[in-house]
Amino acid sequence: MYYNIDIGEEASLLRFILIFLILFINFEASASDKLILTRINKMQESDRIMNSIKKNILESDFTKASQNIKNIKNWADIMIQFFPQGSEASETNFSSASNDIWKEFEKFKDNVNIFRANANKMFVDAQNNDLNQLTKSFRDTKNTCNSCHENFRN
Ligand code: HEC
Repeated sequence: MYYNIDIGEEASLLRFILIFLILFINFEASASDKLILTRINKMQESDRIMNSIKKNILESDFTKASQNIKNIKNWADIMIQFFPQGSEASETNFSSASNDIWKEFEKFKDNVNIFRANANKMFVDAQNNDLNQLTKSFRDTKNTCNSCHENFRN
């Protein structure tokens, strides 16, 4: 099979493999390091799942879309627990989480809740086989990913 991988994708693939290995082998990782690596891994997974959902929408495959959206929904429901105080980016971890998360924690929580609402909306739209609404709620969810990154990722 032919893969057209540009440099950006190659770097992120390498990073993914590295993080996966560290999670898997788990050497010398403190509880906080593990939590950070898990959340980075979940974020990368969300990225791949969002691409699958996009494909499902293009193919009007509501069954597969629902399954994929369920994963996003489940992550949205628990993600706040993966941002405890003191887990921001530092020289000794892989994180790019901004200090602003904890400076403006209420605002961060609002972003998480908007994300949850949009993921729920996607799920309902997929269950209703409503292509127009699902296209819209997918776009809204993607915008939530991006706006949270703009505000809270270094
Ligand atoms: C409420 C805020 C928030 C939402 C919503 C959010 N993210 Fe993130 N995301 C973050 C933060 C903060 C980081 C940095 C985490 C870290 O490095 O510790 C991050 C990191 C990432 C990364 C980089 C991981 C790496 O390799 O370092 C990707 C990819 C990503 N998110 C994808 C997504 C996608 C896709 C969505 C939506 C489906 C999403 N995120 C929703 C806050 C959010």
